[in-house]
Amino acid sequence: MRLKDKVAFISGSARGMGAVEARLFAEEGAAVMVSDVNVESGKRVAAEIAKAGGKADFVELDVTNEGEWKAAIGETERRFGRVDILVNNAGIFVATVIEKTPEEEWDRLMDINGKGVFLGTKHAIPAMRRAGGGAIVNISSGAGIVGNKMEGAYTATKGAVRLFTKSAALQGAKDGIRVNSVHPGTIDTEMVASLLADKEYHRWVKTMIPLGRVGKAEEVAKLVLFLASDDASYTTGAEFVIDGGYTAG
Ligand SMILES: NC(=O)c1ccc[n+]([C@@H]2O[C@H](COP(=O)([O-])OP(=O)(O)OC[C@H]3O[C@@H](n4cnc5c(N)ncnc54)[C@H](O)[C@@H]3O)[C@@H](O)[C@H]2O)c1
Repeated sequence: MRLKDKVAFISGSARGMGAVEARLFAEEGAAVMVSDVNVESGKRVAAEIAKAGGKADFVELDVTNEGEWKAAIGETERRFGRVDILVNNAGIFVATVIEKTPEEEWDRLMDINGKGVFLGTKHAIPAMRRAGGGAIVNISSGAGIVGNKMEGAYTATKGAVRLFTKSAALQGAKDGIRVNSVHPGTIDTEMVASLLADKEYHRWVKTMIPLGRVGKAEEVAKLVLFLASDDASYTTGAEFVIDGGYTAG
């Protein structure tokens, strides 16, 4: 078991990649705090993990709210004794051209995808110091590495996560806190379900990916597991692309 005796906090884990990571982490021996704005689904994920013999609980968290982050990390320490791992996974996706993006949309994207990662990191660091170290995995995107003419605001948020990760890694190193970013390409989750339901789009997107298909949440979860585990003990401040080769060309 690669996460035996570890305690992991995963934001936005009521569904999609976060939920798959929560299940995998629990199978690998971690106690997992599932968190999300979607209370019903989040509670269901935690209950399923417990039913399968794993350790999990749920705490409601809107990642844009600093008070809620403080309470959620505190609750995790009370419930499971420590925080070793944080996956800053919660995020939203909006595809619009720049001149049609309302100011409020830019702010909402920045708040959830950008500020959410900052606040999570800010409140996990003291808890990880108390635990004697830790690992933070920030879920950015291929859209944090290369531009996209349809995703101006989204790429800005994910690019911010990429560089914030490196600064956090520099700061965390002396405390044994590793911080890395993950950059998925198109992954088959509800976030992009409506896009992929469009057969023409799906066919086109596959032609853009050297491996010829979109990715699975399970594939990303395995990479996140590696970075969260002690197998990645010499890895920090690094960016990991998982996109079937999309950004290689
Ligand atoms: N699916 C993709 O193709 C893809 C590609 C690259 C990066 N990503 C990133 O991966 C992460 C997970 O995406 P996913 O595909 O699993 O998406 P998803 O929409 O299936 O899940 C995202 C989860 O985040 C939660 N969430 C949204 N706003 C929140 C908030 N303010 N506070 C707390 N939780 C909130 C949602 O309720 C949901 O449960 C996101 O950061 C996303 O930007 C996704």
